[in-house]
Amino acid sequence: MKATIAPSLLSGDSLNLLADIRLMEKSGAKVLHLDVMDGHFVPNLTFGPPTVRAIREVTDLTLDVHLMIANAEQTFKDYISAGADFVSVHVEAVANLEKLLCEITKAGAKAGVALNPDTPLEAAENVLDKCHHALLMSVNPGFGGQEFIPATLNKARQLQSAIRRKGQSVLIEVDGGIGKDNVRDVVKAGGDLLVSGSSIFGFSNPEKEFRRLQEIALEARVDSRTV
Ligand code: DX5
Ligand code: ZN
Repeated sequence: MKATIAPSLLSGDSLNLLADIRLMEKSGAKVLHLDVMDGHFVPNLTFGPPTVRAIREVTDLTLDVHLMIANAEQTFKDYISAGADFVSVHVEAVANLEKLLCEITKAGAKAGVALNPDTPLEAAENVLDKCHHALLMSVNPGFGGQEFIPATLNKARQLQSAIRRKGQSVLIEVDGGIGKDNVRDVVKAGGDLLVSGSSIFGFSNPEKEFRRLQEIALEARVDSRTV
């Protein structure tokens, strides 16, 4: 999974998520990003396991569940039994991160550590060997439609170096504020999985926007391999 755009349903039509899912399937998307927010860890509130389950029942797309919640340690299993394929938990919200990442893997999902923009990489470095992916927030979590924080690019480069140094195969996920003007930079900085919401669903033809982003991402990846 390299240079893959993961559409975030947060910016989709809450009253017709099914239509947006079908649209993304048609566009060739492989991964759907699902933002779970609890009104505590982040000020916004979205949905929980029943919605993840309902989405699972209608699609075979990989479900990338981003838990922005205070009680992930108590509830992560509910998301996995609802059908989550990837589960990301925030370093800022979890007491025993290593234990939780192992439990997620043991429960059958791909575990990921997520970091807020102000959280240093060091907070995750010692758990990378327990991770399938590491999610770098490129906006402050809670809302779609925010501006990309440019310092994330350097953070992604540093993360990529750390992963390579250790000979690991952790995917780098970058989440928030990604659109046609910066998708190339994010891929070049090491992004493997790029989450984009408003730059896809905020337009009248989300299918076209998705395809365009995915195309730019793949081109950028080819470029970076040749340098
Ligand atoms: C923000 C979420 C993001 C969000 C991205 O807390 O984690 O996944 O949906 O949306 P855009 O692309 O609009 O920044
Ligand atoms: Zn997210």
